[in-house]
Amino acid sequence: MKPAAQRVPTAENEQRERIRTVIHAGADDAVSVVATEIAELVRKNVKSGKPTVLGLPTGSTPVRLYRELIRRHRTEGLSLKTVITFNLDEYYGLPRTHSESYWRFMHEQLFDHVDIPAANIHVPDGTVPRADVFAWSQSYEQAIREAGGIDLQILGIGRTGHIGFNEPGSGRDSRTRLVTLDAVTRRDAARDFLGEANVPRHAITMGVGTILDARRIVLLAWGEAKARAIAEAVEGTQRDSLPASFLQGHPAVEFHLDRAAAAQLTRASRPWLVGAVAWEPTVTRRSVVWLSQHLNKPVLKLIDEDYSEHGMADLLTEQGPAYGLNIRIFNELQHTITGWPGGKPNADDTHRPERAAPHPKRVLVFSPEPSDDVLGMGGTLRRLVDQGHDVIVAYQTSGNLGVPDEEAATAADLVLEISRADNKLSASAAFAQEVRRQLSAKGQFDGDTPDIRRLKGIVRRGEARASLQACGIDAKRARFLDLPFYEKGRYRQFRIGDADIASVVEVMREVRPHQIFATGASGDPSSLSAVCFDTVCRALSATASDPWRAGCRVWLYRGLERHWEPAEIEMAVPLSPVELDQKIQSIYHHKSQRSQQPTGARGADESWQRAEHHNQEIAQAYDKLGLAQYEAMEAFQRWTQA
Ligand code: GLP
Repeated sequence: MKPAAQRVPTAENEQRERIRTVIHAGADDAVSVVATEIAELVRKNVKSGKPTVLGLPTGSTPVRLYRELIRRHRTEGLSLKTVITFNLDEYYGLPRTHSESYWRFMHEQLFDHVDIPAANIHVPDGTVPRADVFAWSQSYEQAIREAGGIDLQILGIGRTGHIGFNEPGSGRDSRTRLVTLDAVTRRDAARDFLGEANVPRHAITMGVGTILDARRIVLLAWGEAKARAIAEAVEGTQRDSLPASFLQGHPAVEFHLDRAAAAQLTRASRPWLVGAVAWEPTVTRRSVVWLSQHLNKPVLKLIDEDYSEHGMADLLTEQGPAYGLNIRIFNELQHTITGWPGGKPNADDTHRPERAAPHPKRVLVFSPEPSDDVLGMGGTLRRLVDQGHDVIVAYQTSGNLGVPDEEAATAADLVLEISRADNKLSASAAFAQEVRRQLSAKGQFDGDTPDIRRLKGIVRRGEARASLQACGIDAKRARFLDLPFYEKGRYRQFRIGDADIASVVEVMREVRPHQIFATGASGDPSSLSAVCFDTVCRALSATASDPWRAGCRVWLYRGLERHWEPAEIEMAVPLSPVELDQKIQSIYHHKSQRSQQPTGARGADESWQRAEHHNQEIAQAYDKLGLAQYEAMEAFQRWTQA
C-alpha cells in the first residue's frame, strides 16, 4: 500500500486534514468552481489537440454540476465534443432502459443536453451475464487505459463512505468488478426503487485502485447526512472499512463541500483543538459540552486542569476559572429545557426559549411530507395543542411517491367494495376501477400515472389525519398544499417554481403565525426536505414586510437523518414515557410508510423506532452533562434568515 501523501496544510486549522478540503457557502458555489476546472481542462486539452477523459458519478450530488455544465454549454459556448467519459458504476441486472439505471440517469441529466459524442460515452453494462463479468470488467479497465487514463475523476460519497459502489471492505487495490451493496446503501436507494425490496443487490463498479489511477480527483458532498463519512475520510486513518479514506493516498485530490457536509471536520466542530478561536458564546458552549462529553464528566464537575489539558487554556484565561464558567454553561443548557414550547403564559420569560406573550399563539408547522411532522416533533405538537395554541399543520407535498402500489390497490378495492354494496357504479368507484386497471398495466418500475398518484396522495392524507388525531389535533387543522414541484417531479430532480412559493405564502398569510416550525435546513439541497425548506425561505422573503412577520419566530426541527447535539439545541422539550408512547402511536398511523416486510428481521429500522431512539439519545446526552434525567426529548434550533 502506498503511504499517505504527506499533505502540507495551508492553514493552521486544517492540520488534521489529510486531504485538501474546500468548504463553500453552498453547493452552487462549489459546483461553479468545479465546472470552471472542467471547462479549463477541456479548453487546455483542445489547444494541445488532446481529448479530455472524465470519470463521472451518479446520485443527487453531481446533478447540480451537470446542470451547470449544460448551462455553460448552452450559454457560454462550452463544447464537450472532445470529452470521453467513463462512469463509475451501474446497478447489476438493470437494462439501460430501466428508469433507475445509471445509463439512463446520465443521459437524462447530462449526455442528452451536451455535445459529447455517443461513441465517447462509457457506462458499465449491468446486463453482462454473470460468467462474463470478470472479462467485461477487464475490458472496461482496458478501455480507460486506451483512452489515455482518466484526467479528472469526479466523485460523490455514500453514507457508508463508499466511492463508486466500493462499499466498506473494498481494498485499496480493488479494480472494476461485481460487488454486493451494503444495507445502508440499499436503504438510501429504496425511494428511487419504490421500496427497498426492489433495490438491486449487486452492482458493477470501478475499483478503488481504478479511481486512484486518475490524474486528478475531485469529490463533492452536500448535506449533513455526509458529514460523518467526510470527517472520517479526511481526518481518519486509511482503511478498508471506509473506502473514501484511501483517497488520502492520492497526490492531487480535493474535496469540495458545503458547510453541512463539512460540519464534523475538526476545524468546524472543535476549532479550539486546531488553533486560536474567538470565544463567542456558541463556541464556548460547544467547547464546554465537548469537554464534558469527552471526559464523561458532568459539566459542574469539570476542573481547571481538564480545560488546560485539552487545549482550552485560553478559554480559562478569558472566562475562567472553571467553577464560574461551568455554572454559566450549565445554566444556559438548563434554560433550553422547557415543557412550554409555545411559551409559558404569565411567567418571566427572560431565560425561556419562547416568549410568554401572546398566549395563545398561532403556530404553523411545515411538514415536507405527511409523517415528518410527527417524526420530528410529535410530542411538541401535542403539547402545543394541550397548552391552548392554535396549531395548523401544512403538509407541503402529498407524499404520493412514497406509497407502495399494494396500498393504492387496497384503497381502490375498498371503494369498489363499498360501491358494490350500493349496487351502482358511482363516479368514485369508476375512478377506483380505473386505478386498479392502471396498476395492473404498470410495469414494476414504471412511474405512476396521475390517477395512481392521486389515489396514493389520498391514502397519505387519511394517514396524516389519523396521525394528527392521535396527537390530539383536529384533522381540520391540516392543510394539504400538494406543491406542484412534487406532483410533477421525481426524487433528486425536484425544481421549485413560482406556484410552489405562492402556495406556501398563501398558508402563511392565512395563519399569520407567531411560530413557524420547519425542517430541512441542512439537508442535501436536492433532498425533499431541503427543497421544501427552500420554499419556506422564499416564502419568508416574499412576506418580509407583512405586519405579522415582526412577531414571528422560526424554529427548526430535524428528521431522522441526524438529531441535534446538546450544544446546538436552543429549545429542548422533554417527553414523559407516556408522551413518548403517544408520539409513537401517532407515527404508527402512517401505515404506508412502515416497512413492507415483517419487521422481525429488520431490527430497529422502522421510522418510529429511529425517532424514539433519537429522542432518548437527546435526553441521555442532557443527563450525562449533569442535567435532569428525562425519558426523551425533542429538540429545536431557532432560525434567522441570513
Ligand atoms: C451511489 C453511487 C455513488 C454516489 C452515492 C451517493 O451509491 N454509486 O457513486 O456517490 O450513491 O449518492 P448521492 O449523491 O445521491 O448522495
